[in-house]
Formats: sequence, structure tokens, C-alpha cells
Amino acid sequence: MKVLFTGIQPTGLLHIGNYYGAIRNWLDLQYKYDSYISVVDLHAITIEYDPKDMRDNSFELALGLFACGLDLKKTKLFIQSEVPGHAELTWIFNTITPLGELERMTQFKDKAKQHRKNVNVGLLDYPVLQAADILIYKGEIVPVGEDQVQHVEFTREVARRFNARYGDTFPECQAELTATPRVMGIDGDSKMSKSKGNFIGILESREDIWEKLAPAPTDPARVKRSDPGTPEKCNIYSYHQLATPEPELTEYVAEGCRTAGIGCLDCKRKLLENLMKVLDPIQERYATLSTKKGEVRDILDRNADVCRKVSGQTILEVKERMGLTPIWKI
Ligand code: AMP
Ligand code: TRP
Repeated sequence: MKVLFTGIQPTGLLHIGNYYGAIRNWLDLQYKYDSYISVVDLHAITIEYDPKDMRDNSFELALGLFACGLDLKKTKLFIQSEVPGHAELTWIFNTITPLGELERMTQFKDKAKQHRKNVNVGLLDYPVLQAADILIYKGEIVPVGEDQVQHVEFTREVARRFNARYGDTFPECQAELTATPRVMGIDGDSKMSKSKGNFIGILESREDIWEKLAPAPTDPARVKRSDPGTPEKCNIYSYHQLATPEPELTEYVAEGCRTAGIGCLDCKRKLLENLMKVLDPIQERYATLSTKKGEVRDILDRNADVCRKVSGQTILEVKERMGLTPIWKI
């Protein structure tokens, strides 16, 4: 069975961009592959953060991911910093990575601009840690959103370079995208993200989501209620495509917009209704899991144990190939 690896940063709330852009894929794929999913706290510390909150944020994210439908028994969900091999392999990969390649990464350039006062070496090295995450489990399948494709390509390069220098050790991985690898924010201007505040949270209440939806921009051609619109030009319609099943999507939403049969508020109310059909069960599972935090913590501990074993094997193999292993270990 091929290995699946993916990660998510504990830097805020889970939103529907994460869900429809990536997580929904993880739910299906977890049964097809040997799946490792990591809350990547070592990545999250490359930008400013409050140490007081980090542990809780990581745990809450794990709860949220289980609530979304990750299988508590099957998928190895774990917290990255509990498995030391990731940082060790990062150091090794650093020694075969040209500096220029890291300086050219899109996410590094964006984040360096966003966090001018804190352009630390970790921010530059971020993709190398990501490559170590994937390759330490010999991951081949990496389900992510579009913004991470460059990092997965970089990981393939790292594997190739290591294999060429030290012998065949790592497989070449591939990114697996969903049908919607880039979900836009409710402002309609840029992709949905935690840092931009333009998100709809998976655990947000119906009332809070409505407060965000009601004033959100729609097709600018619909100035008056009687003006017909073009669904394809409307950001709200792009959310309907995620949450509203056929035939309602075509017959009520798209047709209603084109003929001005419905107003934008009617359309948004319908979206809220359909979105909550997806979010309500997740929120219910979240509430149940929140009463069993001890059990969830035990699962995370057991998963970290398995990860330490598997990653330890890879580290030994790598050291052996590089002439670093003490002879008694071989
Ligand atoms: P992050 O929250 O940045 O750690 O991202 C977790 C996963 O969600 C990654 O696979 C991202 O590619 C994906 N993701 C984040 N934001 C979006 C978005 N707006 N559209 C699609 N996928 C996203
Ligand atoms: N960089 C990814 C993000 O921001 C998170 C991540 C860390 C990851 N390590 C990974 C994703 C390994 C896939 C595989 O979304």
C-alpha cells in the first residue's frame, strides 16, 4: 500500500477553503493509502506566534480534523514536533539543497513580504522541512491545495538529488488536488486564508456565518433585485458549487440568478442552508469529541509512537548511506 502524507498548520481556525480544497480529499484517500497526517507545529513557529496558545491550537486542530471525518482508528494523525526525525532529516536535506532554489519559492517570497520584521532562516528552510515530513515516511501521495504544489515539486527534487548522491532511497511523490484546489475568500478578491480574515470557519455558528455571507459581494451586474446575473461571475455561486447538490444548483440557484427569479439574499439563504447541512454534523462530532479529550490525546500519543518508529528506520537507512551510522547499528 502506498504511503500518503499531508500536513496542516495550527495557525488558526479550520475554514471551508481547507475543507473543500484539501481535507475532503483526505477523507476518501485515507482508506486507499497508508495515511499519515500531521499538525505541523514546527512549520507554524516560522512566523510570530504566542507560545501560550500553541499547544492548545495544535490539539484543537487535531479535534477539528477528527470531527471532519478522519478515522480515529485508521489514520495516523500526529503532532509534528513529537517526532524528532523530521528536524533531523531537514538538516541532512539542507546540505543537498541549493540556497537559490529556496529563495525562489513563491510562499517564501510572499511570507517574507508579509513578515518583514521576522524573515528568519526557518521561513526560508520551510520547504526543506516539508520535504523531510513527506520523505521520512517515504510518502508518495500528497493531497494538498494548489498553493502547495510548488512545495511538492521541490520535494521530488530533493528526493532525486539525494538518490543521485547517496543511492536509491526515496520515492518520487505527487500532489493530489481536489476538484476545487483554490477556494476564494468571501471578499472575492483572493484565496480564502486564515491570515486574511476572509474565511468561513468550519466550526462557526449559523448566525456568525450569516453575518459574513449577507454583506458579501455577488455578481456586480445585479444592482437591483430585478437585474439578471451571471452565476459564473459570482463568488457566492462558487460556494454553491461546493455545497449545493444537483438539481437544486442548476434549477434554483443558477436559473434563478440568470432570470432574476431570486434575489442575492435568497441565494445566500439557500447557500447557508446547504452549507449547514455539511457543517452541522461536523460541529456535532466536534462537540462529542470535546468531551473525550483524554481519549483523543491517547490516540495522538500512540500515533506519535508509530511515527517515531517508522521515521527512525528511515533515519538509520539515510545515515547508513551517508556514512554517518555507527558500525554497530548496521
Ligand atoms: P494551511 O491551513 O495553510 O496549513 O493549509 C492546509 C491545507 O489546506 C493545504 O493543503 C492547503 O493547500 C489547503 N488550503 C488552504 N487554503 C486553501 C484555499 N483557499 N483553497 C484551497 N485549498 C486551501
Ligand atoms: N506547508 C503546508 C501548508 O501550509 C503544510 C505542510 C507541512 C505539508 N508539511 C507538509 C503539506 C507535507 C503536505 C505535505 O499547507
